Amino acid sequence: MDIIRVEGGHTLEGSVHVSGAKNSALKLMAATLLAPGKTTLTNVPNISDVHVMGKVLKRMGATIEVADEHTLVIDTSQVDSWEAPYELVAKMRASTAVMGPLLGRFGKAKIAMPGGCNLGARKIDMHILGLEALGVSFDTDHGYIYADAADGLVGSSVTLEFASVGATENLIMAAVRAKGETVIDNAAREPEIVDLATMLNKMGARITGAGTPVVTIQGVDELHPVEHRVVGDRIEAGTFLVAGALMAGEAGVEVTGFNPMHLGMVLRKMEQMGIKTERIEDGLRVHRVERIEPVDIQTLPFPGFPTDMQAQVMVLSALADGGSIITENIFENRFMFASELSRMGAHIRIEDHHAIIRGVEGFSGAQVVSPDLRGGAALVLAGLTAEGVTEVSAIHHIYRGYERFVEKLTSLGAVVEAASVPDPSDD
Ligand code: UD1
Repeated sequence: MDIIRVEGGHTLEGSVHVSGAKNSALKLMAATLLAPGKTTLTNVPNISDVHVMGKVLKRMGATIEVADEHTLVIDTSQVDSWEAPYELVAKMRASTAVMGPLLGRFGKAKIAMPGGCNLGARKIDMHILGLEALGVSFDTDHGYIYADAADGLVGSSVTLEFASVGATENLIMAAVRAKGETVIDNAAREPEIVDLATMLNKMGARITGAGTPVVTIQGVDELHPVEHRVVGDRIEAGTFLVAGALMAGEAGVEVTGFNPMHLGMVLRKMEQMGIKTERIEDGLRVHRVERIEPVDIQTLPFPGFPTDMQAQVMVLSALADGGSIITENIFENRFMFASELSRMGAHIRIEDHHAIIRGVEGFSGAQVVSPDLRGGAALVLAGLTAEGVTEVSAIHHIYRGYERFVEKLTSLGAVVEAASVPDPSDD
């Protein structure tokens, strides 16, 4: 059993550089399918989700050269399969991002239906409705979705019921090769959408409005390979900002490699909590907060508060001087880490999709289980402040999205190590 062991109470100082964004890199990798030839992606995070997406592409016939740790040269010229198999989709739901590009390139796709995952029912009905408007017909059989644009993709107007990131991406990636114009209304506005549209436009696509609620795409006949740098990871940056707010020494902690504009609402909420940050080149410096003000937060699509920062900020509010309410609007089951945090002394009551939090003076180190990616990272953050030692298990969740998490925290002065311990259930 792999665990991360954290000794609480050590001051953090220095600078940490965040990696490229997981949620951007995965979609950019899928998009390389649209441009036969060698696309070079730089600033790719070395995390397990990227490895899974690499496997998905290889299974279709792509080759991937790892030019250096953060540079992938993906050659999609020999791709001759349009299937994303179950064992890979089951590992990572974001594999469904290949549906749009496969339809764009081959007019068909066979994708394993993503099963349940611990974030609740993550459906893909909006992807399907949108693609149907572009002329795709769908069939399901033996756990697979068969998508077919037998008469070619045709541009259309699509209004999304909800600004879904995944649906917006799949629609954009199909529409770039459709005949005529596609307009996506109520499109997601996340920075990762802008990154995707920027790369596709370099490839020869004609996309306008990315980053706004209305994205317009003029279909083109072909796309060509390019070189593109993955945008910095705003969520990894936010995670280290929380670490600094909790434990920075006199000089604060510097977090670089990202655009602070991508964290607008997170920074506004941190400011309301009494946390001070200042702009530095390529990032922010954060100072330790003496007294955390309680705050009410609800997760919303960008530019609202990101669901991917909900757990980390809950660690702060669990130490606030008063009561806070955090409302999760994006995913069911995203409060699982709260019961683990309660084992460390937090007072959190969950009512439906609200967490009602009464701040406590401090946490005490405990053995806790990482329930998912962001919840796992949040438990490590809690361990940094806790009295004694915290052991976080099931850390494979954390490595899905954080590159060298332990090493980066250690470089700031945290006393953290990844260790293998015997699994008691093996007895
Ligand atoms: C979501 C987050 C994204 C985050 C990513 C990884 C939002 C809006 N999206 O993106 O910021 O980086 O997880 O954690 O915060 N839904 C449907 N039908 C669909 C598609 C989505 O009902 O066809 C629902 C989902 O069940 C969920 C919500 O819409 O409740 C958000 O979905 P979506 O934005 O598509 O999720 P991801 O692309 O995974």
